[in-house]
Order: sequence, then structure tokens, then C-alpha cells
Amino acid sequence: MVDPIAALTSHVQKAMVAALGDEFASADPVIRPANKKQTSADLQVNAAMALAKKAGKNPREVAQSIAADLPPDDLIESVEVAGPGFLNVTLHSRWIAEAAASMIGEPLLGTVLPEQQTIVIDYSSPNAAKEMHVGHLRTTVVGDSLARTLEFLGHDVIRQNHLGDWGTAFGMLVEHLLEVGDGSDDAKLLTIDPNAFYRAARAKFDADADFATRARARVATLQGGDPDSLRLWREILDLTKGYLRRVYSVLGVTLTDDDIAGESSYNDELAEVCKTLEDKGIAVMSDGALCIFSDEFTGRDDKPVPLIIRKSDGGYGYATTDLATIRRRSLQMKADRAIYVVGAPQNLHFRMVWAAADKAGWIKGTEPVHVQIGNVVGTDGKILKTRSGDLVSLQSLVDAALERAATVVAESRPELDEQTRATIAHQVGVAAIKYADLSVSHDSGYTFDLDRMVAFQGNTGPYLQYATARIRSILARADVVDPKGPIVLGEPAERDLALKVLEFGSVVNQVGESLEPHKLAAYLFELATTFTAFYEACPVLKAEDAAVRDSRLALCRLTLEVLTRGLSLLGIEAPDQM
Ligand code: ARG
Repeated sequence: MVDPIAALTSHVQKAMVAALGDEFASADPVIRPANKKQTSADLQVNAAMALAKKAGKNPREVAQSIAADLPPDDLIESVEVAGPGFLNVTLHSRWIAEAAASMIGEPLLGTVLPEQQTIVIDYSSPNAAKEMHVGHLRTTVVGDSLARTLEFLGHDVIRQNHLGDWGTAFGMLVEHLLEVGDGSDDAKLLTIDPNAFYRAARAKFDADADFATRARARVATLQGGDPDSLRLWREILDLTKGYLRRVYSVLGVTLTDDDIAGESSYNDELAEVCKTLEDKGIAVMSDGALCIFSDEFTGRDDKPVPLIIRKSDGGYGYATTDLATIRRRSLQMKADRAIYVVGAPQNLHFRMVWAAADKAGWIKGTEPVHVQIGNVVGTDGKILKTRSGDLVSLQSLVDAALERAATVVAESRPELDEQTRATIAHQVGVAAIKYADLSVSHDSGYTFDLDRMVAFQGNTGPYLQYATARIRSILARADVVDPKGPIVLGEPAERDLALKVLEFGSVVNQVGESLEPHKLAAYLFELATTFTAFYEACPVLKAEDAAVRDSRLALCRLTLEVLTRGLSLLGIEAPDQM
């Protein structure tokens, strides 16, 4: 075990039993890193106050009796009672050094594999034949980081890209494709700039009444299963998938065609979904539409808001499909967790859908989770929109970041050949975008500020990449091939770094539970700054003593392993040099 908090927890629990009795055997001792401004100790045990209250005793006395049962051992150097009843614990440097050394070359780096779960994760999920916008950038980046992290934790992760590939707009798109001709340059727009294709179809629809009539009729033939219409629809989707493949490959996103389970894949189930809900009395007819009402979900007038699952024209909607997604993910895929990484405004939608699905018995042994995604705003604090009022396209943001990164790398490394510079610039640009997104909590808004994101200084992706490149260069200049220590912790900065490294596993475990990648981002930033402080205080290659140099090289290597692994869980590549 390398996590000092976990190690100390079992010690303290034994002491709590001795001090207070058996019923405290599994009470949480509430151990946190100590406040460095107040004490030189490493960890602080906070439980005594709450426990004393429960046991009807004086907190300081309880703290003292727990402390009395925590004699110095391999882990604990000293314990001191402070304030109203805190315990400040100083760990043995040797324990820290050995724990750190044991992490070197370990694939899990201190992560404890949890009980394996089947986890379905719905993310990215753009709308076909419409360009991805900034909102999809976030659902894509956050979802991909979660999928990578959950997979690293040993879970069976099933990605679902819930592509919006069905609905009335396809009538218009199919008609437009028919007119421009498949294989034409206009049709190929779908793989380059799907929105341009969509706009062209829309313009025709608005301007040309005959076209609009044909488009409406096409909706009916398409939904009625007419083979010709379906062929054209499939063509549109194939081209769109080409577009998505390119976006995902530029961004280094792990989604493939096989992960696409679009809205259309649920078509055959929708009639039955409605019928079952109606038969069970969960859905009722109201003004010609089939609706679900529940006292749980009321509007301003305190009347239940309807969840419409079949419109009065017989059409099904977004809610109907999502009843089918949770049913499939729970009953067929047997998900322990069904995660939906989707914009925060859809929270009510999901809560209403899941409540209804639960009533129908369609959620069994599955915990549905909505990972709510906040808005992307510009430096003016407003939702990013183009001058024409559209949401800014994902492509234009990515292009801008890549361009900016190219300028930065051209300035910082003019001596590198063009190819190498281009590779680094790409890695830096993508890191800038992803990290900016992942370093704020997923449900709060984040400001898209290119200058800040691409900077090599501050809490940015490129700064973390730069830290890894610097360590690589130190290791490359050392004469040791595979530094393993032993680690000896003499200087405080060495000890701080080793302790920080030990936290990695528990942070990853926490992200696997709470689904908050920003905690990993924050940790990696702390690690990088702790490394910088170490590097400033402790010469590595120039260390006088050979044993000290070996130890510091081992610390460098371990820091590099943790940083690169952590970045990879965020979906960020670490360049060899920068
Ligand atoms: N296509 C939807 C959108 O762009 C997101 C779909 C999310 N997934 C789901 N199962 N509803 O807003």
C-alpha cells in the first residue's frame, strides 16, 4: 500500500477501537493532509471531535486516548494532539521513501483496482449533418477522459456515441442530397463542413415552397422505410461519420465507428416502449399526445409537466429514445453504471426519463448518472457564438488553438526541423484545449481564452507537458539507464515530492467514483509545481553524492511516470521534447 492516508486509516481505526470500543472499528477517521502553515506534520486526523460527540466524551481527551494507542512504528514517527482535538501525524521518511520506490515501473502507480463494473458511457453524441459545436467539444473531452480513467481502473467500459441521426430534418437533407447528387462536391461537404451542407438545405427549404413540400413528404417516406430514401439517408450518415472520424483523430479521442449507437438504432423499439408504458398506466393520452405526468416534476403553476413520448402526429421524440437507451443499457447491457455526459440543461429531461423507466422496471441494478456539462463562454463571459448567432463550431476552436500552438513552438524551438515542430505544436494545441476544459469542474462554465490556454506557464496543459519534457531531458543526460533508487529523503523538497507522488492512486480512485476529472488535473498541476520546487532546491545531475543522485534520478523518473500516466488519463500526450 502506497497511499499514506489509507495506511494510517487502519492504524487509527485500531486505536479508535481501543479508545472507544468495537463499534468504532470502521468509523472514518477523517484523515487529510495537514495544514502546512500551522504544523510541520504530514497528516491530520480529524475524527476525534465527531466521535467524542457520539460517545458523549471530551474531544481532547478522546484525541489523547487515540494518540496513546498510536505508538511510533514503521509508518508513524510521531503523533501530537492539537487544538480542540486534532491529531497531527508525522510519517517516517523511510516509509515514504520505500513506498515511492515501490511505485517505480508499476503500471497502476498506487491505484487500487475497485470491484469491476460494467459501465456504459454516453458521450460526444453530436447531431449528424450538423457541425459539432463547442458544447460537443466538452462532452467529448470530459467523456473521453472518464472512459480512459474507468478503463484504467479495470472496469468494462462500453462507449456509446448517441449520434442524432434521425428526425424530421433528415427529410430536408435527403432531398438536398438528391438534388446535388451523391458523389458531387456539394455532397462531399458533409465530410468537411457538415454545417455548410445543412445550411444549404435549410436555405432551400425556406426559399423554395416546392422543395419544402418534397422535404416534408420525404420525412414520411423515410420513416415509412422506403428503400431509396433509406439509401440516401445512409449516404448522409456515412459521410458524416467520415467527418467525425477526422475530428476524433485530430483530438486524439478514443471513439470509433463501432461506438456509434445513434438515435436511429432505437427506432424499432419506440412503438413498444410507448405501448408498454401506456399498458402499465404510466403514460396517458393528453390532447392527442401520449404523456407521462408525475407529481415529482411540476412547473411554476405546481402542475405536473408532461414528458411527451408520442406526439399527436404519431411521431416519437428525444424522450422516447432515451427511455429506450436506459432500458437497453440496464436490461441488455447490464450496466452497473450508465453514465450520460451531456449538457447541464438536459438534467430535468434525464430525471424525468429515468423516473418513468424505473416505474416500468427498466432500471435494474443500474445506477444512471448524468455528468452535467456547463457552458463554454468567451472572455466576455457570454456563451460562445459567432457573429451570425450560431454556436461557435468545434472545428474553428481547434484550428485556432493549433495555429496558436504552432506560433508558440516556432518561437520557443526555432532550431527544430519543421516536421518535429509540427508534431509538438499539434500535441500542445490539443493539450491546451483539453486541459482548459478538464481543469474546471465539468458542471461549471469555462472561459475559452486561447492566450491563457496555450501558455507554457500557469495552470495549463502545455505547462504540464513542459514539466514532463524537462524531466525527460534530465534523465537523458544522466548516465543511469533505469534509475530505481533506493530513494533517500534528506531535503524537505525531496520529501514533499515523494509524498505528492504517493497521492496519485487515491486521486484516480476518487475520479473513478465521483467522475470529476478536474480533481486529477488539479493534482497533476500540484505535482508539477512540487517538482519544480524540488528541482530548484535539489541539484540532480550535479548532486555531489552518488547515492543522493541516484535517489533524485529515481524521484525524477517516478514523477515522469505519474505525470505521463495522469495526462494520458486526461487524453493528453506528453511530447518527447518541447
Ligand atoms: N445529441 C444530443 C445533443 O446534441 C445529445 C445526446 C446525449 N445523449 C443522450 N442519450 N440523450 O444535445
